[in-house]
Amino acid sequence: MNALLDTRGRPLRDLRISVTDRCNLRCTYCMPADVFGPGYPFLPRAEVLTFEEIERLARVFAGLGVRKLRLTGGEPTLRRDLPALVARLAATPGIEDIALTTNGLLLPGMAVALRRAGLRRVTISLDSLDDATFRRMNGLDVPLAAVLKGIEAARDAGFEQIKLNTVVQRGVNEASVAAMAERWRGTGITVRFIEFMDVGNTNGWRLDQVVPAREIRDVVHARWPIEPVDPAFPGEVAKRWRYRDGQGEIGLISSVTSTFCGDCNRARLSPRGELFTCLFAGSGHDLRGPLRAGAADADLQALVRRIWGARDDRYSELRAAGQAGHPKAEMSYLGG
Ligand code: GTP
Ligand code: 5AD
Ligand code: SF4
Ligand code: SF4
Repeated sequence: MNALLDTRGRPLRDLRISVTDRCNLRCTYCMPADVFGPGYPFLPRAEVLTFEEIERLARVFAGLGVRKLRLTGGEPTLRRDLPALVARLAATPGIEDIALTTNGLLLPGMAVALRRAGLRRVTISLDSLDDATFRRMNGLDVPLAAVLKGIEAARDAGFEQIKLNTVVQRGVNEASVAAMAERWRGTGITVRFIEFMDVGNTNGWRLDQVVPAREIRDVVHARWPIEPVDPAFPGEVAKRWRYRDGQGEIGLISSVTSTFCGDCNRARLSPRGELFTCLFAGSGHDLRGPLRAGAADADLQALVRRIWGARDDRYSELRAAGQAGHPKAEMSYLGG
């Protein structure tokens, strides 16, 4: 079979599956509490893909070249029995790697079961080591200690890799950069500092709130000299830097100041079973309809082939060129 490439020659390798639009935090940059309040119309259960449906679609994508899955949300651990989904996906022919992006709060009760089910890597969001800053940023006054317990649980469960995601916002948590670097150096855990992005429509993004990756690099480098490392795989989002003294590495995700659309090989599956070909797309392509109507694997594969073959997305590049600005899907819906 011919390799599946989009109109810019990019293959389909990586599928990010958002398993729920709900979350047990209200991070101000992602799900501001005044927008995602008690009356917010989260998806009713019947709208959300079942584990059987997700497994089916993963098989279809694996048949088209996808090797890597990442489970996201909302908060994916809110899906009851998430380890059962991991086990199904781990048994899918062609899938070589399964990872999870989580806020870590529920890991103490789930980490071991996830690891046993075949999850290899975990990424935990942690924006500050200052309790007051963390409480403010997560929108629900949840203490820092709750996430630290989740990180501990992930370590005890023996994952092959643990990373932390720190979204850096000017005037909010930029002081956390040095503290995060210092705390996790030498622990085997990699911190990735992320430029605040204009995802969704509700986080009030402004360019002057973005702390450029270069500035973050300089802050770390001034205290603990770092040098660049080659990407671990093609299309890796984070630029890797290693401490010259051998104490591990950090990552910088610079979606605003240094775009990486050129080798973007990621597709996204929404909780409702829509295929999004870009994090910043306004809408997705319905796969659940045909799936529930009884389409065969081959039909679904042909549909995804058509969608990927027509793909032209490069939102971050257009934003950099001043040409962006349409309504987008919410981050908490699409999973980052
Ligand atoms: P690995 O490379 O497997 O470690 O995963 P990842 O870094 O792609 O996943 P993660 O969920 O940890 O995402 C880290 C940050 O990168 C989040 O802020 C994502 O929204 C962002 N991100 C991931 N993929 C893309 C992408 O294709 N485009 C843009 N603009 N941002 C992305
Ligand atoms: N900009 C950058 N990263 C974001 N995330 C959520 N919202 C944003 C944003 N506006 C991060 C989360 C999580 C990852 C999936 O995306 O902190 O770690
Ligand atoms: Fe929830 Fe993650 Fe969004 Fe925070 S960033 S509100 S933890 S989905
Ligand atoms: Fe890929 Fe869209 Fe992100 Fe560019 S902006 S890297 S095309 S998801």
